[in-house]
Amino acid sequence: MSQLLEKAREYEQNNVKNIPNAQRPVFHFSVPSGWLNDPNGFSDFKEEHHLFFQYNPYSTHWDSMHWGHAKSTDFIKWEYLPTALAPDKEYDNAGVFSGSALEDGEKQILLYTGVKEELLENGEKQIRQTQCLAIGDGINYEKFPANPVITDKHLPAGSSKEDFRDPKIWKEGDRYYAVIGSRSPDGSGQILLFFSDNLTDWQFGNILDKCENKLGKMWECPDFFHLNNYSVLMVSPQDMLAEGLTFHNGNNALFLIGDYQKETFQFTRKHVQNIDYGLDFYAPQTMLTGDGRRIMTAWMQSWDTYLCPEDYLWYGMMICPRELSIKNGTVYQTPIHELTQYYKNKVSYSNLPIKKETQLKGIEGRIIDLQITLKSGDYRKFKIKLASNQQFYSEIIYNREEGILTFDRSHSGYRRDIVSTRSMIVEEENNAFHMRILMDRYSVEIFVNYGKQVMTSLIYTPQSATGITFESIGEALMDITKYNIEV
Ligand code: FRU
Repeated sequence: MSQLLEKAREYEQNNVKNIPNAQRPVFHFSVPSGWLNDPNGFSDFKEEHHLFFQYNPYSTHWDSMHWGHAKSTDFIKWEYLPTALAPDKEYDNAGVFSGSALEDGEKQILLYTGVKEELLENGEKQIRQTQCLAIGDGINYEKFPANPVITDKHLPAGSSKEDFRDPKIWKEGDRYYAVIGSRSPDGSGQILLFFSDNLTDWQFGNILDKCENKLGKMWECPDFFHLNNYSVLMVSPQDMLAEGLTFHNGNNALFLIGDYQKETFQFTRKHVQNIDYGLDFYAPQTMLTGDGRRIMTAWMQSWDTYLCPEDYLWYGMMICPRELSIKNGTVYQTPIHELTQYYKNKVSYSNLPIKKETQLKGIEGRIIDLQITLKSGDYRKFKIKLASNQQFYSEIIYNREEGILTFDRSHSGYRRDIVSTRSMIVEEENNAFHMRILMDRYSVEIFVNYGKQVMTSLIYTPQSATGITFESIGEALMDITKYNIEV
């Protein structure tokens, strides 16, 4: 084991002990120590779910990327495993960047981006991103001696040698495939497909899709999968321009939904769908479970927000994993059904008329699954205050006249609220509006109309603020069910 890896393993082990459990989210994965960004290597190995992640164990800021590691049998309770990879080779001296994992016989294969930084004779700094293999047993990994296995030599002419990262690997029959983010000669993103029969010799297959400077700039963290009768290419574009209420985060994530011709490696994009409308969602990655479910996780933060309390020794969480399905060409996202195993204290009301600000007996808390249907009534606006007390609250506002749903954390207790609100256009279905709100200590995930749209945001409101109130302009008729989540 390299010194760098040993140091990281030792450091995290000691630091984890200093973090009180009560400071961590309850049903969301949080970094053992230091900083986390993208999920990596989300996949099954020996019938357990593995999650790796972009990791700096030493501080709550991004630096010198390692791969952290954890596993779970239900996507809710995670067991930390020792750091999997450290930037300890010449070809990854500037970071072990994002990538993916694959169960292959007895072995777990990791394919990641090695970043190499070099000072040239002329004094310039040169950065190269290449794809590298590591092979292991679920805990320890050996980097492949002939790394890197996919380099600038494999790139189509004119593509950037610096921005070439985040391979997502899969296997079909005897052949391995990988999609990788790249920057084309026009300076914007493209997703490249490669294939190999032995993992070590790779060939370029095709450019699956191109940004052409229309959907942001560089495309990061691709994933490619079939869902029902569709092919979905998932990408995380940087530097997107807002369009109406969409893409305000700059760094966003998209489902590109289309058709795929396997023989010619041709993907035809038919539809673009924004994955999440909240303030804190980026770099999603999916996996297929043994029972055939396509599950997505993602970094529950964005490069443009930083809410870490000063005295915390950890900063970084993943979303509650979501099951994906497609209806009428739209990808739906619903919280992993294993979550229901942790339900406690159900409280339910039906046909409740709501007008002035109302508190409901038994409906409160910070670690809950809240399901609300607004059924009818002449109401024009409906407001829910969450995580509230005398001083703080976060608000969900459904402006029925305008057909807009807003999440606003301006009063959640954060001292910098430049970025604090997001809105999205919503529609009622059969005259009803449905919301499922997952709250954990630091997060609010709002699933609208059974997962047709989602909004994910962080709040760092003091945990004593547990109040929830409802208010309507005009009268609304509401059904509501709340479960506490206890893990
Ligand atoms: C996305 C990303 C990836 C990269 C990683 C580095 O958030 O920029 O493209 O591999 O983070 O930590």
